This record gives sequence, C-alpha cells and structure tokens, in this order.
Amino acid sequence: MIRFEQTFMNFLLYHQERHNRTYHFLILMDALISAAKHIEHYYLTGALKGNLGLAGDVNIQGEDVLRMDQIAQEITVHYLRASGRVIYAISEESDKIIPINMEGGRYFVYFDPLDGSSNVPHGLPVGFLFGIAKRNLEGLEDGHLRAGKDYIAAGMFVIPTGTFTLALKDAGTWRFHTDETMDFVKPIRMVLPGDTNEWELSFNPAHRHTYSERVQNWIEKNERKYVFRYLGALAGDFHRILSNGGMFMYPAIVNHPDPKKNRPQGKLRLMYEAAVVAFMCQEAGGMAVDEAGAPILDIQPKEHHQRTALYVGSKPLVDDIARVLSD
Ligand code: F6P
Repeated sequence: MIRFEQTFMNFLLYHQERHNRTYHFLILMDALISAAKHIEHYYLTGALKGNLGLAGDVNIQGEDVLRMDQIAQEITVHYLRASGRVIYAISEESDKIIPINMEGGRYFVYFDPLDGSSNVPHGLPVGFLFGIAKRNLEGLEDGHLRAGKDYIAAGMFVIPTGTFTLALKDAGTWRFHTDETMDFVKPIRMVLPGDTNEWELSFNPAHRHTYSERVQNWIEKNERKYVFRYLGALAGDFHRILSNGGMFMYPAIVNHPDPKKNRPQGKLRLMYEAAVVAFMCQEAGGMAVDEAGAPILDIQPKEHHQRTALYVGSKPLVDDIARVLSD
C-alpha cells in the first residue's frame, strides 16, 4: 500500500485555518518553496553546467561573487515578485533594499538565498535562510528594519538535502523532507533534546585563538563534554543543533594576529542569518545571544546588512555562555 504523508501545504492550510489567518501567507510560502526547489535543481546540476564557479564580479564587501549566488538571487526575487505579497525584500546578495510591491504587499522578507559559500565549489550543503515580518496594516507604516522578535516566521532549506525547517510565531518549529515527487512532507515538531549526551558544539576551530579570552576559557572548560561538529554552512550546522541539541557559535574575532582581520562586531548577518536561526531556536525551546550575552531576537537592526556574533542552541549552554559574556 502506498503511504501518503501530510504535505507542507496541507500542514500550513490547517495552521492558517486553526489560527483564523489569511491565505496570503500560504501564497508567500509557495513562492519561497518554489524558489528553493528551483535553486536546488540548479545546485544539483551545477557541476555539470559550470554553475559552481565564480561569476567574475566582486560585491560591495569585496568578496568574489559566485555564479550560484546570482542564480539563487534571480530565482528568489522572481518568485517573490510573482507572489504579489511582498513589500520589500532584503537580501545578502543585494546592497540595496529591493522594492517589490510597495502598495499591495503585506510582508517584508529578509533572505540569504545561498549561505555557506565555501561549500559551493564542492556541491556540499548550503542554506537558503529567510525571515518574514508583516506590514503594520493599521496605522502608520512601521518600517522594514525589524528585530527578530517581530518576525512572524523564519525558516531554512538545507540545499541540496531536501530538508526544510520552518518556525511559526508561537506555533513551534517544524521540519519537512522532500519525497520522490519533490513535495515537502512529513511535518516533525522540533524540540531541542534535553539529553546532554547527544549535545554538540559547533564553531570554526581555526578561529578559536582569535576569540576573546573569556570565550576561549569557556571552550577550554566545556569542549570535552560534547561532540564537536562543523560544516561551515550555518543552515547545516544549525540543522544538527536543532536535532541533537548543544550550541553553534560564531563569536566576535578580537585577537587576530593581523588586527585588520578582527571582527569585533561578529561575522554573521543579523537579519537573514542570526535572527532567522534564533527565531527557529526559540520556537524549539532554545535561545540565542550576541557577544554581550543579550538576546539576538531583541536587537533592533540599524541597517540591512548589520553583523553580529552568535551563540545559539540549548538553553542551559547558551545561558551559561551568556553569563560569561555579560560579566
Ligand atoms: O555567513 C556565511 C557563512 O558561510 C555561514 O553560513 C557559516 O556559518 C560561516 O559563514 C562560516 O564561516 P567560516 O568560513 O569563517 O567558518
């Protein structure tokens, strides 16, 4: 007998009906899923079609642009436009805010369509991360620079693994898998496990001596208690933490032997990296803080591409490092 699993769209429809919500969010999610599937297709065939290399441009941050970055950006903006539901989008791939449907749009979308670029030449996992906030429908327009606590949803596709995780405000974090028809199916509620035997630590060990002394000491004291894993793509690393518990961290770099390479403000982007995983983590029972030990979801962004340090995962671990950071 064929076994049919609940599809993502069934799940979402049920959720919208139960909470008396509009259908607009469904249309937006359909656009994001279509974009992710399309990007996944290009990524899987990228090595054969010559799409895993450089595009030949350098972005505003002085980084080489990858061909796949451009493809993923074009695809995502296309689907967001077609949805008609987005006011503005903010993308890692675009220096400026992207106006989409300023009159009729309902949502702000913050996204990185291909995160984890060092994995791209190898065809290894990358992430498509997004956060969604809603226009203030009554009263004055309330701007697009929203703190994570104001997101209504956040999610990530781990490309090309066919997994998709979505957190809905006050309704939990859910993981889906693609079946052979390329539908996302089988919602699994993600709750960070309490069993510390499974917990993992994840950070770039090549950088550990560039962290502040207090962070280095914390690592020294705690690292032997947990398994260590690092993929180098936030979506993949955070995917494991959500399943197994533990903590992912990308601390501020303050002790680099070449001071020009210090990043006291952190590396990861607040709006479409750190706040996205922090939101998913909170809905799964965890938390996330910055280098001052303050909640990531409370940070009010001052600009689109603001960076932050990030410590995200199981509450007891994040609480512990937050105490050290805020001391
Ligand atoms: O910000 C992009 C990103 O590729 C993340 O996905 C990842 O967690 C991090 O940077 C990896 O950085 P590094 O190569 O310094 O470990």
